[in-house]
Amino acid sequence: MTASDFNERLDVTKAILGRIATEFTPAVFASSLAAEDMVLTDLILRSGLPIGIFTLETGRLHKETLDMIGRIKESYGYDIALFKPEAAAVDAYVQANGLNAFYDSVEMRKECCRIRKVEPLNRALTGNKAWVTGQRRAQSTTRAELHVQEDDAAHGMVKFNPLADWSEEDVWHYIHSNKVPYNPLHDKGYPSIGCEPCTRAIQPGEDVRAGRWWWENADTKECGLHLVDGKLVRMKAVS
Ligand code: ADX
Ligand code: SF4
Repeated sequence: MTASDFNERLDVTKAILGRIATEFTPAVFASSLAAEDMVLTDLILRSGLPIGIFTLETGRLHKETLDMIGRIKESYGYDIALFKPEAAAVDAYVQANGLNAFYDSVEMRKECCRIRKVEPLNRALTGNKAWVTGQRRAQSTTRAELHVQEDDAAHGMVKFNPLADWSEEDVWHYIHSNKVPYNPLHDKGYPSIGCEPCTRAIQPGEDVRAGRWWWENADTKECGLHLVDGKLVRMKAVS
C-alpha cells in the first residue's frame, strides 16, 4: 500500500458517504462494531453526517463487542441504535431445538441467523432510502464481486459498500492513525467477529473468515444479511 493509493481510496470513501448524506437520506449504516465498521463510524460521526448507525444485537455477541457501544458513546457522544430479535421467536427456536442448535446443520444455523439477524435487519431498514455496510471485496470469495453501490431490490433501496476496495492493511492504517477505538478481540486472533458461539480465533496463515462458522464449508458462510432470497446473488451495480 502506498500512501497515495490509500489516500485515494479514503477520498473515494469520503465522497461516497458525502453523496449518501446529500442524495440518499434517510440512510442507515449497519455496524457489527468490528474494525471495518469502526472506520465508517469514525468517518460518519467526525463529519456529523446524517446517517444513523445501528447494530443487530443478536443476544449472542461477545462482551468485548457489546462494550464497543459504550466506548462509541464515550468517544463520540453517540448512541448506537440496537435492534434485537423478537423474544417469542428466539424462545420458540430454543425450546424446539436447544440453545446451540446452529451446530447441528446449515439449516438450523441459517434459521438462527434469520431470527437473530435477518428479521431485525428488515426492521432496521424499514423507511430508509439507502443502507451502508462495511463489507470489503478481499474478505471472502463470496464478496469478490462486491460493488460500491448496489441496487438492493429485495429491500427496495440502494446498498452502499464504501470500503469495497479497501485492504485489511488500509483498515488498520486508518484505525491506528486516527486512534479509532476497536474491539480488543482483533488483537487476539479474531480478524472477523460475529456472534460468540459462531466465531473463534484463527491460526497464523488461515483465511480471515476461517474462524466464522468454522464447522461449515466456505460457500455457506454468509449469515443472510447480504443474501437475496437466501441466495448469494450479486446485486446490480449502480453508477
Ligand atoms: S456476516 O454476514 O458474515 O455476519 P460480517 O461480519 O463479515 O458479515 O460483516 C459484514 C457487514 O455486515 C458489516 O460490515 C456490517 O455492515 C454488517 N453486519 C454484520 N453483522 C452485523 C450486526 N450484528 N449488526 C449490524 N450490522 C452487521
Ligand atoms: Fe445464531 Fe450463530 Fe447466526 Fe449468531 S451467528 S445468529 S448465534 S447462528
